[in-house]
Amino acid sequence: TTIPKYVTDLVIPPVMPMARHSQRHDIDTYVIGVRQFSQQVLPPTLPSTTVWGYGSLGDNNTFNYPSFTIEARVDQPVRVTWVNDLVDDQGRFLPHLLTVDPTLHWANPPGGNTGRDSRPTFTETPPPYDGPVPIVTHLHGGHSTEESDGYAEAWYLPCANNIPPGFATVGSFYNEFREEFADEHGLKWEPGTATFQYANRQRAATLWFHDHTLGMTRLNVYAGPAGFYLLRGGECDLPKGALPGPAPAFGDPPGTRYHEIPLAIQDRSFNSDGSLFYPTSREFFDGFPGPYIPTTDVSPYWNPEFFANTMVVNGRTWPKLEVEPRRYRLRFLNGCNARFLILKIADNPTARPAQSAVPFWQIGNEGGFLPAPVQLEQLLLANAERADVIVDFTGIPEGTELYLINEGPDAPFGGRGVPFDAADPDTTGQVMKFVVGPLVSKDKSVPPDKLKLPKIRPLGSASVTRRLSLNEVTSTNVPPVLPDTPVETLLGTVDSAGNPVLLGWADPVTENPRLNATETWELYNFTADAHPIHIHEVAFEVVNRQPFNGPPVPPESWERGFKDTVIAYPGEITRVKATFDHPGRFVWHCHIVEHEDNEMMRPYQIGGRHK
Ligand code: C2O
Ligand code: CU
Repeated sequence: TTIPKYVTDLVIPPVMPMARHSQRHDIDTYVIGVRQFSQQVLPPTLPSTTVWGYGSLGDNNTFNYPSFTIEARVDQPVRVTWVNDLVDDQGRFLPHLLTVDPTLHWANPPGGNTGRDSRPTFTETPPPYDGPVPIVTHLHGGHSTEESDGYAEAWYLPCANNIPPGFATVGSFYNEFREEFADEHGLKWEPGTATFQYANRQRAATLWFHDHTLGMTRLNVYAGPAGFYLLRGGECDLPKGALPGPAPAFGDPPGTRYHEIPLAIQDRSFNSDGSLFYPTSREFFDGFPGPYIPTTDVSPYWNPEFFANTMVVNGRTWPKLEVEPRRYRLRFLNGCNARFLILKIADNPTARPAQSAVPFWQIGNEGGFLPAPVQLEQLLLANAERADVIVDFTGIPEGTELYLINEGPDAPFGGRGVPFDAADPDTTGQVMKFVVGPLVSKDKSVPPDKLKLPKIRPLGSASVTRRLSLNEVTSTNVPPVLPDTPVETLLGTVDSAGNPVLLGWADPVTENPRLNATETWELYNFTADAHPIHIHEVAFEVVNRQPFNGPPVPPESWERGFKDTVIAYPGEITRVKATFDHPGRFVWHCHIVEHEDNEMMRPYQIGGRHK
């Protein structure tokens, strides 16, 4: 069946209800669970889809894929008790919706992940894991402290009544913080929960939260748990009214018109019964030509990347939105597992190359506002990158139909200037439709070319430069988990001769910035593809990029200010600079989540050991 496009209205996620606001502590408190439910992701003529999503516990109407949005204020702390509620109505655990590969270095609840070296070994292909699902939530872009960062080994199982004896119910990192944090804040951590606190001491920005469990982030996030966290206020925000609005707020009457809209773009594939499709082997799968690596007698379930065949925006396939002929503030998130997006707004959905039909300006990225608005012809967005964009529909006649289209590849993204085939114009080359309606309310927002954005305070100079590497290797380079099972993606360092030193998740920490140090990290990409590299805890400056044999080139205009994810192109050194100002254990990783799950993530340590 082909999936009809543009029959479903875009869903603009409402605001997540607070459990309470404590005046005394001045803290916004939330209790947010992850549950399994069914949602009409496909058009209503097709079956619904079983997904996972976050929602406010005690309020069953807020569970949604993607999550309702957390609205936060700069300097106003937010405390969330994140509940693993992946249980049925008898209190029994729900197995994963997708195939969990137990051969990766992953959470591995049965034996428990007792240390940082517990990659399981097998002599033959094991069955997929079918036990209770570990989860842990990371606030992506959060200037978080270590106990609240959602460390990949701070996962926990649901509190279910049928967990077999001998199962570890929490990851190795969970207990290191539970008691200390509970004492410090007078909190009880119930089984199946973790309570994290976000100080929001950072610039106003578009953040998002998603699952981050070791070795299964690709599966957990694909099943749905992700949402926006919009941080406003402080001296790095604009005065109310300068930008198009409003965004959703509490108590909005139905039918409220919004001119600030977050858009989480994800690719997904569906089986004919409406269930999510995610590949279960590296073999070529009918209808889903992948970069699946054929193996011989063993067939691990992990894939190097997955490019699905349907575009989903805010949890609906190919939605449509009626817009007024005025300016809109759209906050884009590339929430895809592996796909880079190149977005344009065009009046013809299939003509390639597409011509931009309306002017748009990028005003912000992951770290908040840019120094100045940047007018763009297209928007390149790697996985986990965000773009705060003003689109101007002013003067467009009523009835005009415009399309958000994607000219990125249905394949890994190569280097700059490397030719590639644009996504299939009939499927993944289209994202959503805008239909211009009547002007309902006058546009009082400042035109983007007149907009003064908040000041950027640049970081000081770096005291340390580290050389780090991005690698793709086969089992001849690293010990294979199974015969014929290459480990494809690894991070590492670079030795004095300029050669990569390959390191996996289990290897000891090699990046250990002093507390409050400013450092330059040089990312040497030795692979053939671009990788979006994300560093937790910090917002970094992109310093420059330098081809291995060439002079450095400055960052793009839309990469100014601060970012938390940067595209590292093949054959180049990408330099970023950050101040590391919270002590403890964090991670840096590739945000192609298949890579992240298979060793393209490393722990790093700021200052001395926390304990
Ligand atoms: Cu968006 Cu470490 O992740
Ligand atoms: Cu990668």
